[in-house]
Amino acid sequence: MGNQNEVRKNFGQRASKYRLSTTHGNPVDLERMINLIKPTSDDIALDIATGGGHTAIALAKYVNRVVAIDISPEMLAEAEMASKQESISNIAFRTEDVHNFNISDSRFDIVASRFAVHHFSDVKRALREMCRVLKPGGKFYILDCSVFDGEEPEKEINRIELLRDSSHQCSYSPRLWHQLLKELPLTIDHTSLLKEQYELPRWFDRMGTEQNSREEIFRILNSLSAEGKIRYPFCDDYITTYRFEILATKN
Ligand SMILES: C[S@@+](CC[C@H](N)C(=O)[O-])C[C@H]1O[C@@H](n2cnc3c(N)ncnc32)[C@H](O)[C@@H]1O
Repeated sequence: MGNQNEVRKNFGQRASKYRLSTTHGNPVDLERMINLIKPTSDDIALDIATGGGHTAIALAKYVNRVVAIDISPEMLAEAEMASKQESISNIAFRTEDVHNFNISDSRFDIVASRFAVHHFSDVKRALREMCRVLKPGGKFYILDCSVFDGEEPEKEINRIELLRDSSHQCSYSPRLWHQLLKELPLTIDHTSLLKEQYELPRWFDRMGTEQNSREEIFRILNSLSAEGKIRYPFCDDYITTYRFEILATKN
């Protein structure tokens, strides 16, 4: 057992915040995902760790059917509510852990996951499972929090993420992502490191980050090297973050 209880607790308590989150529901990100995947009306898609359902709902508008899984029943209830609000009826919601899900091999044309891999306690196993249920020729899409390559960001920015969210495991740098992807039966079509800003205090409030952890996060940011400060500018209203995006095809 890894951090699954912590994930259920942290997300279960704050599920509606993730449904309402403008970060997760950002239409520009969702449109870029659709343009990369190019879903078709025959496709069956799997959304891993659906959270507030933004990815599943975006895909459902283009495909035949979506299965949306999450470890948190409260998050799934929010995702289902969001789909009803949009009159979407082709999503099946299921409580599953990505590390052990009960899904047969090669079932899906699309497997997608956004803003979730950094929670997975056994990332290699989770990624293998995602590939196992994808058909050969199927599309594999990930968008997740990332950090710049290098010892300082890989250590210090992950320390910040863990202070904010006790269920955080690792935001992988591009260097680490490429090591993980090399072991999977995938042909990489596209990767990119995207720079973003998190609005404060909204980013803290979404996870209920304690005041002393917020202060420690600013102490870490203030003590970054000169190069780190250029890559991770911040002020009272925002901090800088990076995301890694992947589109691949199953061999
Ligand atoms: C930030 S939310 C995901 C946002 C969502 N994908 C979107 O596009 O808006 C992260 C989700 O990962 C889920 N999660 C974390 N670990 C998981 C696991 N091992 N299996 C399934 N879901 C998991 C959490 O319950 C939470 O709902």
